[in-house]
Amino acid sequence: MAYENIRLDTEGAIAVLTIDRPKALNALNTQTFLEMESALLLLPSQVRVLIVTGGGDKAFVAGADIAEMATIGSAQAREFSALGHRVMHLLERLTIPTIAAVNGFALGGGCELALACDLIYASEKAKLGLPETGLGVIPGFGGTQRLARTVGKMRAKELIFTGERLDAAKAREIGLVLEVLPADQLLAHCKTVAGKLIKNGPMALSQAKRVIELGADQDLRTANELESQAFGVLFGSEDQKEGMKAFLEKRPAVFSGR
Ligand code: CAA
Repeated sequence: MAYENIRLDTEGAIAVLTIDRPKALNALNTQTFLEMESALLLLPSQVRVLIVTGGGDKAFVAGADIAEMATIGSAQAREFSALGHRVMHLLERLTIPTIAAVNGFALGGGCELALACDLIYASEKAKLGLPETGLGVIPGFGGTQRLARTVGKMRAKELIFTGERLDAAKAREIGLVLEVLPADQLLAHCKTVAGKLIKNGPMALSQAKRVIELGADQDLRTANELESQAFGVLFGSEDQKEGMKAFLEKRPAVFSGR
């Protein structure tokens, strides 16, 4: 599939997925979602970390495409929401870590896209929020659920009820982003973090992500059982043997991801 609205660039084990419709501030329309879906399903196997960012210098993603949504009815709105959920789930369930590099406006669907990533870093000029109630609707790509799980239910209600845009510093204060970087250092910072992740065991990262995600929706005893199972699974991996052998031999581990 030739992409018009996204770019996928790979540098070794790190891939950068850029939502690239700067004239519409990278708004998510059906075409963009379908391209994202294809890119996520076809990620090259050597990729161990995915960074998601926005094209141009103004926006990460300014939301779902309002021009596309303005005239649709209930059935189409449900379909559009389902498509958005499908892509967000795909991203969330990738077996590799994902990093959102929020380089500008991350509003509505843009904030929801960032929330579907494992780690969120923002530039000093980022603005984040869920302004949908001002359009007479609610977040439709998981925002009501993932925001509450990330910053707490009451903060999520405040942000969704008011539709207020947060600057990067405030977003960091409430735990919506991890760090705030000068705009020209954001992508480099995300690549540095990615560089640290790819030194660790891919199987371990994948299991850690899986257990944290699945466990968050379970009671503690069930969640800890998931952890125990994954811990056991990893002892059947080459990565575990190599990681521990390398430690004892006082050398860096060379992981195969098996
Ligand atoms: N959808 C479609 N087009 C959009 C867009 C969006 N979400 N956001 C911006 N654009 C377009 C604008 O219409 C404009 O196009 P034209 O040049 O053709 O007029 C272009 O991008 C540039 O935008 P602005 O001129 O508005 O730029 P600005 O700097 O004055 O303002 C902004 C920037 C504050 C981000 C403003 O564009 C804005 O408020 N955008 C909408 C944000 C929003 O409400 N997002 C939520 C969408 S609903 C949603 O996401 C639902 C869901 O969860 C499923």
